[in-house]
Amino acid sequence: MTGVATSLLQHLRTGTRAAHRALEDDLGFLSRLTSPSRYEEVLAAFLGFHEPLEKALEASIAAHRLPWELPPGADHLAADLLRSGWSPARIAALPRSSPPDVRTLPALVGSLYVLEGSRLGGRLITRWVGDALGAVPVSFFAGDGDTRRRFRGFCAMAEDAVLAEDAQAVGEAANSHFLLFQEWLSAALPSEAS
Ligand code: HEM
Repeated sequence: MTGVATSLLQHLRTGTRAAHRALEDDLGFLSRLTSPSRYEEVLAAFLGFHEPLEKALEASIAAHRLPWELPPGADHLAADLLRSGWSPARIAALPRSSPPDVRTLPALVGSLYVLEGSRLGGRLITRWVGDALGAVPVSFFAGDGDTRRRFRGFCAMAEDAVLAEDAQAVGEAANSHFLLFQEWLSAALPSEAS
């Protein structure tokens, strides 16, 4: 059913283009970072969103027996903060977001699309951060292995998992995820991501 994969992906790509661009604009300041502490605030804000999100996704993946494993996310964010000198207690005290509702299969796949896709921009962000700040911990943004290959694998899996008639619901879930993340970042990083 490659045709469905192509059309599902195309549908998602087109349907979330505006949301992606808005978030990319909000995060553009990552290319102009002037202090490691500002970068750490970004890691902390990402952690507060990703940790509850991953728990919700894990539960739904298990409930739907979806053949997919999440990429390391919150663990890498915490590791980067620890390496930056944060204590475990300070990390534990960070605020956490309310995750998107990913209980239905289309919502799960839509949210996974955004999570997996977000890793594609990580290489660029890693370069920005390195150019701006030198050697700071970047295990989250650098990711593990070949993110593009991983993303292709995700798309093939989504093709098998989702009925063509659910493409709309998948797209709506992807946009909700984008919006929630953008709102979370605007609140957590008010002076730049607004
Ligand atoms: C400054 C921040 C960001 C930059 C510079 C960026 C950049 C990119 C780039 C270059 C790609 C295409 C990669 C490729 O085709 O190889 C991409 C794809 C994607 N990004 Fe981002 N991104 C950013 C933030 C995000 C965030 C925060 C999310 C989600 C929360 C996200 C979600 C996605 C998705 C879903 C795709 C896949 C689109 C598709 O091919 O269907 N991005 N991004």
